[in-house]
Amino acid sequence: MEPLRVGLCGLGTVGQGVVELLARNASSIARRAGRSVIITRVASRTPKPEVDLAGATFSTRLDDVVRASDVDVVVETMGGEAAARQLMSDSCGAAKHFVTANKALIALHGQELLAAARNAGVMVRFEAAVAGGIPIVKALSEGLAGNRIHWIAGIINGTSNYILSAMASDGASFADALASAQALGYAEADPAFDVDGIDAAHKLSILSALAFDTPLQFDAVYTEGIGAITAEDIEYAAALGYRIKHLGITRRTSAGIEMRVHPTLVPETRLLSRVDGVTNAVVIHSDAVGASLYCGPGAGALPSASAVVADLIDVARGNALPAFGQDPAPARVPIDDIESAYYLRIPAADQPGVMARVAQILSSKEISIESVIQREQAIRADTGTAWVPVIILTHRVIERDLNQALREIQQLDDVVDTITRIRVETLDADG
Ligand code: HSE
Repeated sequence: MEPLRVGLCGLGTVGQGVVELLARNASSIARRAGRSVIITRVASRTPKPEVDLAGATFSTRLDDVVRASDVDVVVETMGGEAAARQLMSDSCGAAKHFVTANKALIALHGQELLAAARNAGVMVRFEAAVAGGIPIVKALSEGLAGNRIHWIAGIINGTSNYILSAMASDGASFADALASAQALGYAEADPAFDVDGIDAAHKLSILSALAFDTPLQFDAVYTEGIGAITAEDIEYAAALGYRIKHLGITRRTSAGIEMRVHPTLVPETRLLSRVDGVTNAVVIHSDAVGASLYCGPGAGALPSASAVVADLIDVARGNALPAFGQDPAPARVPIDDIESAYYLRIPAADQPGVMARVAQILSSKEISIESVIQREQAIRADTGTAWVPVIILTHRVIERDLNQALREIQQLDDVVDTITRIRVETLDADG
């Protein structure tokens, strides 16, 4: 058969990984694809003479790839939104298949772009957009295609996991851990996308749409980053038998679909809580299989390239992904309506009766307490007021009720600073 001819757009970390992997494993890739997969054209804003392009024609103009007659499939590894969107639209117009590693592109524009691709009779694939080297798009769209998915919970941003792990195991500061993740090439160009949870929200919206056959709805994802997590919270969580992970969670409930990204206490007995560094891990709970766990590197040159090359092999075989679900979009469960357990850190004046007043407010909202830690040694602030952090773990409660209780507790004279609140998920069969 004729080779599959690839036009590669973007020669950064992932693009260079694709060049390397296609060269390194050329013969096994050809056998699995049923034909060889060769890069004929490369476009990048900056020439990279140090990268061996094995004879591919280089240009600084994307158009030279999209319009080329010797390109069957355009691979987008540039990142960003506007230029990538234009490239996908142009590729579709030029009747070329499209493979992308771009989660923002798919999360924000995938619905319309995949529909256009379908009309144009070309394939679009995006395995590298979610969880790097883990074949999670394939797991949902093929391996588990016979299942009804109940929920998904995952560590889907490597940079945030790297930072939380470094804070927990080495006592690293947030800033140092982030700098190290940037130096290793894990972080986004703007690392706020990682630490504020936006990158995870992009990925979660894609997983949710695939799992529940719904339209993409990035705007409906509730998103909290890891910026407020302190070393103290990590320590208290450990004392209670939990680890703090930044999770993306999507769940089908009778009220609709939940989609949320936030720091979460996970019991240390769960495998997910043990996943450290840049590693991603996704638990899928479905009717036929029950829980299955997918774990591996979530970022980096070769893991992402592995996903891109898998997509190229699928394109070579003619294996198209189904389109995302069509309208109407299902109801989305607002964050106020979710049910969760909570970790609370309440900075309280060191005087008798504080705990009783806090417990009374929680009890008035029918929120029961599972555990409490109260440091015996008071901390004396600059003002001279002695205070102690009171740590409470609640049972499951509707978030709206918890918020109401927290507003009342925050107003107590005994509470000297802002209360920290982190959701707790046990990841049992029922979520
Ligand atoms: N910045 C992303 C992460 C890269 O840290 O997970 C992979 O999508």
